[in-house]
Amino acid sequence: MLAGILSAARRNNPRDGITGALVCRQDLYLQLIEGPAEAIDALYARICEDDRHANVELLLSEDMGERLFPNWAMLDDTAPSLTWSAQDVAAGVLEAASPDELRAPFVRLSAANPGP
Ligand SMILES: Cc1cc2nc3c(=O)[nH]c(=O)nc-3n(C[C@H](O)[C@H](O)[C@H](O)COP(=O)(O)O)c2cc1C
Repeated sequence: MLAGILSAARRNNPRDGITGALVCRQDLYLQLIEGPAEAIDALYARICEDDRHANVELLLSEDMGERLFPNWAMLDDTAPSLTWSAQDVAAGVLEAASPDELRAPFVRLSAANPGP
């Protein structure tokens, strides 16, 4: 299933000017998408309709200066960098997290993966 998601991302995102990273652990996906606002809105609408997952939640939306993943159509995290457990997530840790805490796993990933 992950391979199918990544293949759509790598096909569509360069066309749409989108870059980002997808962290996958157990049944949790945490994704950072960056690019032009209209393209992101269109992608987010497609993802919300995708029945390969449920309970899509927008945790943070902001104007960014530089991209964290300028060279990645969609980086996938092979050594999952989430510090939150499934229990933490069920207990609402993501909704309680600050913007800096939400960004942190992606900032680490970005530093470790400058290019494909
Ligand atoms: C967790 C998750 C992340 C996804 N990320 C992307 C993405 O970055 N780019 C993308 O085009 N589709 C992504 N998809 C797939 C879209 O929901 C949708 O199936 C796809 O964009 C349709 O593209 P197509 O019309 O070219 O088949 C994602 C799906 C899931 C479940």
